[in-house]
Amino acid sequence: MAGHFRATKIRSAFPELPQFSEFMKPCRFEGEIQNLEVRGEIPQEIDGTFYRVMPDPQLPPFVDNDPWFNGDGNVSAFRIQDGHCHFKQRYVRTEKFIRERAAKRALLGKYRNRYTDAVEFKIRSTANTNIVYFNGRLLACKEDSPPYAMDPKTLETIGLEDFNGQLPSMTFTAHPKLDPDTKELLCFGYEAKGDGTPDVCYFSIDSTGRFTETVWLISPIVAMIHDFAITKNWVLFPIIPQTCDVERMKQGGEHWQWNPDVPFYLGVLPRRRASGSDVKWFRAPNAFPGHTVNAYEDDAGNIVFDLPLTDKNAFFWWPDAEGNAPKPEEISAQLVRFTFDPRSTNLDLPTPEIIGKDDCEFPRIDDRFSGKEHAHAIFDLMDPSLGTDFSTIMPRMGGGHPPYNALGHLDYKSKKISKYFPGPTHLVQEPIFIPRKGPSTAEGDGWAMVLVNNYASMSSELHVLDTRDFEQPQAVIYLPIRLRAGLHGNWVDAQDLTLS
Ligand SMILES: [Fe+2]
Repeated sequence: MAGHFRATKIRSAFPELPQFSEFMKPCRFEGEIQNLEVRGEIPQEIDGTFYRVMPDPQLPPFVDNDPWFNGDGNVSAFRIQDGHCHFKQRYVRTEKFIRERAAKRALLGKYRNRYTDAVEFKIRSTANTNIVYFNGRLLACKEDSPPYAMDPKTLETIGLEDFNGQLPSMTFTAHPKLDPDTKELLCFGYEAKGDGTPDVCYFSIDSTGRFTETVWLISPIVAMIHDFAITKNWVLFPIIPQTCDVERMKQGGEHWQWNPDVPFYLGVLPRRRASGSDVKWFRAPNAFPGHTVNAYEDDAGNIVFDLPLTDKNAFFWWPDAEGNAPKPEEISAQLVRFTFDPRSTNLDLPTPEIIGKDDCEFPRIDDRFSGKEHAHAIFDLMDPSLGTDFSTIMPRMGGGHPPYNALGHLDYKSKKISKYFPGPTHLVQEPIFIPRKGPSTAEGDGWAMVLVNNYASMSSELHVLDTRDFEQPQAVIYLPIRLRAGLHGNWVDAQDLTLS
């Protein structure tokens, strides 16, 4: 039981491990910096805020070898207007954050293992995975809990978000999808009735905050469902073969263990008026599905589903039952496309088409095309031929997160990938896309923005690119501080922000 964990080590410094060292040393900064330095010119048309969140432990963990993404969510906001950029950063005041700050020590134990905690928590969320704007609030998400709501202007934490008591699930994905036409937020939770439960809850929320669809289904394995995808008529649940065992957790073990013997399952559920028995679990050979690019239906009613996919365990710090895990440098995800008929009785997915061979992750599209046919995507990639100075970067990188040295921009019509190389001592974090305003509403026409780690200056930069001239930056915005690896972020245009 929680609270029964005995020999907790109280550390006053972060362990000398790669995930807490060099560029990955916790940032722990809260505050504001006005008028960041800019080289080049930030386009005047850009008016809005880039929100992103990073796991950033406020206190040293007491568990050994805590993974880098078990840290407290620290939210960064880059407000861009009139060619200027102001920066603000504030931790999400989760139950964990508040109680640990009062205790002046870590109280939360292992990643998603309540049996290792020093005290009993009601909510274990670190709120560190994604920051999503919906219905006037920022939602700081971690997939093991409901989200925390934040004020988009001040970054003050409002509190745990239960959507006026409507939230049916104990958990809420970090990757909800906004339908650009209906303005519904489509969401799900897995392990939705608690640790180790196979229950998945799919739900949709209309633009006023009212829940419209709730479907309970049973997963074929209790395993991680991190991201998902939507089309006009379907929702897709790709399962990562990292499986949960509550008995292992009770003995102080990990929540997750890689299982190389199960298929890669893809759940497909009708989006409206479905019941749990309508779900079909398609399958493919064992593989690790990365973040989804997008999905849509073609003219024949087939689902087209794009994502990075690898046959290796990308979460190598959670090995298989025998302790086997790939070396980080062996893991490489290719961009693939599955095309299949959701009405088929043959549940074996056809072999996917390989669209991009470079190791890639963190794909984004023009969100106005979410769930609809897309012709553009941007993503992080690793291309060693671009000239990265690995001898400078490697000793300063710290560890845990995969390295990507460029942004790719894929034009699906020409199948051409343009690459933006930010510099020889630089690695990139997840990009976002900002549509151009005015007469052009063409898909993919606008700007890409990406947080860049500069290992020469050991500080962070925000690079702004015009998608019409993708290989050169329009502006580089310089931070005087270092932001460690983050997970996800989103652009919120000023015209879409209704401040309370
Ligand atoms: Fe994610």
